[in-house]
Amino acid sequence: MSKYDKLFEKITLGNGTAVQNRFMLAPMCDDSSNGGKVTDQQVEYLRIRAANVGVADTGYAYVNDSGIQIQGQLSAAHDDDIPGLTKLAAAMKAGGAKAILQFSHAGRDAMGSQKYGNRVYAPSKVDFPWVHYDFDEMSQADIEQVLDDYKNATRRAIEAGFDGIEIHNCNHDLLQQFFSTYSNRRTDKWGGSLEKRMAFPLAVLKSLKEAVAEADKSDFIIGWRISPEERHGDSVGYDVDDMIAQTKEVLKVGIDYLNLSLNLAAGYNNAKRPDYNAVPVGHTKRFATIFRELAGNVPVYVGTNIFTADQAMDAVDDEKGESGVYVGREMLIDPEFVLKIKENREDEIVRTTTIQHLKDVKLPDGFVDNYADTDGSTRSVSYRKGIPLPGLD
Ligand SMILES: Cc1cc2nc3c(=O)[nH]c(=O)nc-3n(C[C@H](O)[C@H](O)[C@H](O)COP(=O)(O)O)c2cc1C
Repeated sequence: MSKYDKLFEKITLGNGTAVQNRFMLAPMCDDSSNGGKVTDQQVEYLRIRAANVGVADTGYAYVNDSGIQIQGQLSAAHDDDIPGLTKLAAAMKAGGAKAILQFSHAGRDAMGSQKYGNRVYAPSKVDFPWVHYDFDEMSQADIEQVLDDYKNATRRAIEAGFDGIEIHNCNHDLLQQFFSTYSNRRTDKWGGSLEKRMAFPLAVLKSLKEAVAEADKSDFIIGWRISPEERHGDSVGYDVDDMIAQTKEVLKVGIDYLNLSLNLAAGYNNAKRPDYNAVPVGHTKRFATIFRELAGNVPVYVGTNIFTADQAMDAVDDEKGESGVYVGREMLIDPEFVLKIKENREDEIVRTTTIQHLKDVKLPDGFVDNYADTDGSTRSVSYRKGIPLPGLD
């Protein structure tokens, strides 16, 4: 008996799949693919981090060549990605975790696509302070193509042997761009009212479910990651009540777990980043509780700033709903975080890092470079500085 036993209870996903414990390896793009293809370093990096969790997520994989946010991102856009993805899925499943491939399309934020000379598009042509290139407004044909691309990427994930996929309907992804009143100014059936703004994310979900039905894989897991609100100071793309409305419809179509990304939630742009205890503006319950009450027996994963066993317990401690906890940066620093809690070795958990330590714990080279100074020594000078690691921040 340990006070952390609850973390090691099995949980049941929406489709009846049992998962070995409540931990999820958070989806984290490792910037190290070779032109989208899986490398041996990535396989090893994910094998050791997936070993003891219930659900293990990859970083986001793009579903077509116009959706690449970062060069070094994984690709699920081509059939010749399947052999590499097959190796990755097998490694991630080796310790009993459910292996999940996360899908994304960056829409207007497709800086990687722009660098490769690929066309970039978004729901509407709206100026964004951080976008310094031209992009198109999506045509009906573009929208249909993307729906098809999600379906084809799902077929590839199934062929590669993944247990499931997770849709990145968060962190400014294309799906979120359609839902945001700030990003979507369309006047056709894909924009305007709340119902029309949620039409694209729902169409993506329905499209990829066709691939699951065609493969006759009722045990295939469909995870759905949301940013529960989009606020930039006074500008509100959507609030949590809008996202509750969208999620109700998503639950009707059917998902197997919900994953709350809290990066953009309350407190965004403030000195203090939100964490698993964040409470939305105008509400008294935390995001976790609100969505767990909504989702019923569909498990809801929350996390952010989990570095200790007590924090993980706090994140799953809800009276209602089925709960899981995702762990991101701590799993980069200490791949054995979960094992150490299980074996009552919490005092051995590593909570701070150095560049050398990141190499020792098998972060791929391209990933380590994003935390290293140009002289290779101390702290991040890259965009990863925005998500600091203790010891390097
Ligand atoms: C290096 C890095 C890469 C990330 N890439 C992704 C990603 O590909 N998809 C995603 O949904 N979230 C991504 N995230 C967000 C994490 O999944 C997680 O929500 C966030 O790091 C907060 O959890 P933590 O405090 O435990 O790190 C990334 C975070 C980090 C640190």
